[in-house]
Amino acid sequence: MQEKPTTVAAYAAGASLAAVALFYVFGPNYTIDGDESNDSNRKKSIVGLSNLANDCFINSVLQALAGLGDLRVYLIHELHRRQLDGPETYHTVTSDEEMTAGATDKLRELQQGITTRALKEMLDRLNERPIYRKTISARDFIQALEYAFRTRISRNQQDAQEFLQIVLERLCDEYHAGVRARKRALGNAAAASSEGSAQESSSEVEVRIDDGSVNGLPAIIDTKLKEIDSESGFPFEGKMESQIECQFCHYQYKPNQTAFVNLTLQVPQKSSTTLGSCFDGLLKTEYIEDFRCDRCSLQHAIDVKSKELARTRSQGDRDRLEQEIARLQTAIETDPEAELEGIVMPPSDSVPKRRIARHMRITAFPKVIAIHLSRSIFDRSSSSKNAAKVSFPERLPLGGLLTQKWYKLLAIVCHKGSHHSGHYESFRRNHIYPPFSTPGAFSSYASRAASQSPSAAPSPRIIPRTPDPGLSPATSSTSLSGSVPLTGRPTTAGSRRSFTGKISEGPLEGGSPSARASRSIPRPESGSGVSSRLRRRRKPHDRWWRISDEKIKECKTSDVLGMQREVYLLFYELEKPDPCI
Ligand SMILES: *[C@@H]1O[C@H](CO)[C@@H](O)[C@H](O)[C@H]1NC(C)=O
Ligand SMILES: *[C@@H]1O[C@H](CO)[C@@H](O)[C@H](O)[C@H]1NC(C)=O
Ligand SMILES: *[C@@H]1O[C@H](CO)[C@@H](O)[C@H](O)[C@H]1NC(C)=O
Repeated sequence: MQEKPTTVAAYAAGASLAAVALFYVFGPNYTIDGDESNDSNRKKSIVGLSNLANDCFINSVLQALAGLGDLRVYLIHELHRRQLDGPETYHTVTSDEEMTAGATDKLRELQQGITTRALKEMLDRLNERPIYRKTISARDFIQALEYAFRTRISRNQQDAQEFLQIVLERLCDEYHAGVRARKRALGNAAAASSEGSAQESSSEVEVRIDDGSVNGLPAIIDTKLKEIDSESGFPFEGKMESQIECQFCHYQYKPNQTAFVNLTLQVPQKSSTTLGSCFDGLLKTEYIEDFRCDRCSLQHAIDVKSKELARTRSQGDRDRLEQEIARLQTAIETDPEAELEGIVMPPSDSVPKRRIARHMRITAFPKVIAIHLSRSIFDRSSSSKNAAKVSFPERLPLGGLLTQKWYKLLAIVCHKGSHHSGHYESFRRNHIYPPFSTPGAFSSYASRAASQSPSAAPSPRIIPRTPDPGLSPATSSTSLSGSVPLTGRPTTAGSRRSFTGKISEGPLEGGSPSARASRSIPRPESGSGVSSRLRRRRKPHDRWWRISDEKIKECKTSDVLGMQREVYLLFYELEKPDPCI
């Protein structure tokens, strides 16, 4: 008998790939190893990670990453796209330079996104919602990473930040290598002019999405949307700009742009501080003394040469000096930073030193910001840990008044112990995601699903049997946090955590002050049934997982925000504009 699709997604024109991908992301990969009908008795939890050889620095980072919705969307999106493009696009390696066979292989692996794939598989497994306690190992992912770098990951290093940085930089490199490979393939396709018509004839491709199940979820993807939604970027990648301004001549240097995938903030040596003050250390204007300003140096040279000109008798010298002064003047007016050839400048120790201001600002805000609190104190001979309390908010504003962005805390990694030994654990939010896609795009999905006559197989269903025109990803994502009847029907079992069906209007238990504060986020007013229901679902919720390797406990936002002495890595996600507007 032909296997029936569990779920089929159709992309309405204009719906973004990410929006539909999200449907899968937050569809729970339930592990059915118990009787689902015994809902009231089952212990809800998430998958833990075993710690065989000092692996907590790896485990804590992977668990934090597993809780980042935008990262999971990215991973799914990126692998879809690679599947659509076909392996050939990413297999071909061209280079201007002569490369060794090893270098060619490495470039090919970057293009192929081997770490991206391994991380997706790892995070999918960590996002299963087991009915009974389940512990897996990070070994597969570590092996993929070690293969990618052709080196072993030292368990002695044990620094969660270094591990995070290795993973993020690698993913970012793979992303950019993929972009270049696609561009090249696109260029080749344009050269072979027959390509275009073949592409147009069929815009829908059926693919399977690896959700951890044996055959994957079938889905239909509209290939025309590939271009529309292309290159939304690596979610951790942002850009920073630094600029120097001379306090004497007020010349502003051309800003330097640098890309980043993480931000390292120095924790001041105080008993307590705030995340905001740590950011000040990076983003506040810094004043530096004794700087040789390029523009002031040119002006100084003009002054010196003008005096020489006044003294000199020789016509040859006069001509040369006049020419040089004119060139220096032009340089000041056009580009004081450019190299000037053929002019002998006054000795550099005669150049006046200036005070400069150095400004640093974020110019491109990443979707997910990974913050590392540097707690190392280095003395001449030893290093120790700065155990300052750092308070951090649930909602973090970044940027200036005009460019202000709000971020929401999704995960932290904590370190307990000394600088040389200790233990890492992580906290990740037990999500209820706001809807990401437009309800319209989704209803076309729902009607497609209906026309496909969904199978009656007892597989985990992420859509209700009756297509609901108001169905949105919120509905499905809501249902997966905590306790979901796998049938998609509202549960009557006495779980207080059941969010399926109607959600009470009352405050959630244990709301912390900060959770309550975030309730005041403005919400759109709308009379329609759909959005009022969405609005109700968007109640901030206060449930987190506290994860120490294989041990998992539920906790509240206030517990997370209380980890001021231990907090080491923070993961914030850019808040989404409301789709209902
Ligand atoms: C549910 O769990 C209880 C207690 O563990 C058990 O006695 C009962 O038989 C279970 N019910 C079903 C339907 O399996
Ligand atoms: C920009 O980068 C260059 C080279 O790295 C450096 O010399 C210069 O000081 C930087 N400028 C600013 C404004 O940071
Ligand atoms: C990212 O992390 C590395 C390693 O800790 C650090 O050296 C680097 O400065 C960080 N990047 C930024 C932009 O802070």
